[in-house]
Amino acid sequence: MHTHIETLKKDMIHHISAAKSAESLKEVEVKYFGKNGLFNGIMRQLKDLSDDEKRTIGKLANETKQVLEARVSERYLELEDALMANLAESEWMDVTVPGAQPIQGHRHVLTQFMDEVEAVFARMGFSVADGPEVEEEHYNFDQLNIPANHPARDMQDTFWVANLPRHVLRTQTSSVQIRHMETHQPPVRIITMGKTFRKDSDATHSPMFHQLEGLMVDTDISMAHLKAVITEVLQQIFEDDSIKTRFRISYFPFVEPGMEADCTCPICHGSGKLNNGVPCRLCKQTGWLEILGAGMVHPQVLKNAGYDPEQVTGFAFGMGLDRMAMIKHRINHLRLLFENDLRFIEQF
Ligand code: PHE
Repeated sequence: MHTHIETLKKDMIHHISAAKSAESLKEVEVKYFGKNGLFNGIMRQLKDLSDDEKRTIGKLANETKQVLEARVSERYLELEDALMANLAESEWMDVTVPGAQPIQGHRHVLTQFMDEVEAVFARMGFSVADGPEVEEEHYNFDQLNIPANHPARDMQDTFWVANLPRHVLRTQTSSVQIRHMETHQPPVRIITMGKTFRKDSDATHSPMFHQLEGLMVDTDISMAHLKAVITEVLQQIFEDDSIKTRFRISYFPFVEPGMEADCTCPICHGSGKLNNGVPCRLCKQTGWLEILGAGMVHPQVLKNAGYDPEQVTGFAFGMGLDRMAMIKHRINHLRLLFENDLRFIEQF
């Protein structure tokens, strides 16, 4: 019996040390200390012994069990330590390695340009108004003095909205003039910028383009104000004090008189030639660029909006923002603005 216990002890100690994980150690525990384990086997044999032997063997068995239990606990701790050491080895990281920089985007060149333009007007006291891109025929045409069947509707190849009678994709931001005057009393000093749409698509036209509209209405507003504002704004946008403007008579149904304005070419500064004598291609050597439509707000348009044309006058103008951004940043193809090619976009 005595040697039996000693052997058992030796075997178990060997198995405990051999256990490489908490799970296999648990198996060793069950094998020896479990209900049907080897230790209980010994205990069951005690009943066949003499009282004396029962006492000595029983004592030895209990002491041995205590020693072995202590060894099992110790082994659990060893395994735990080993596990941690292993983790530390396999999962360490170098916190001094520079982080991976996420690629940071930025606003599109056109958006940046529009923000700049807005800031120029804001400094001159203009605020920003807004209107819908899907617009009522009423605001896009009728109230602007362009009734149905008026030939001027043909000036702007219109996208009519299917399933929504009398609605268009606005062909011009001039619709916002009416919307704003309907809801505000003079004095008015606003700009609006946004998308406009026409059935147009070639090298210099895209079916969607951006317009800037300006409107100023008050007592005694004259063409002198129009010319002053336009000249100042163009000088600031193109960052060139030498820019001059000239106005040519033209026709838009919602202004009278109506005109188109040119400014001296910001590339060749009005000379028609670049510094090295090469002919300027942007202005085709004329020194001038056609830049906007403008005029004094037609009395009928003021009336349509509920204003009294005997009391107030105003000017309005509209220009294409895409082309201006292209001139400012020397971009030679309109499509580049809308293709979202990162090689292009990242340059600004
Ligand atoms: N809305 C006109 C266009 O799109 C431009 C314009 C605006 C002309 C305001 C005069 C006054 O062509």
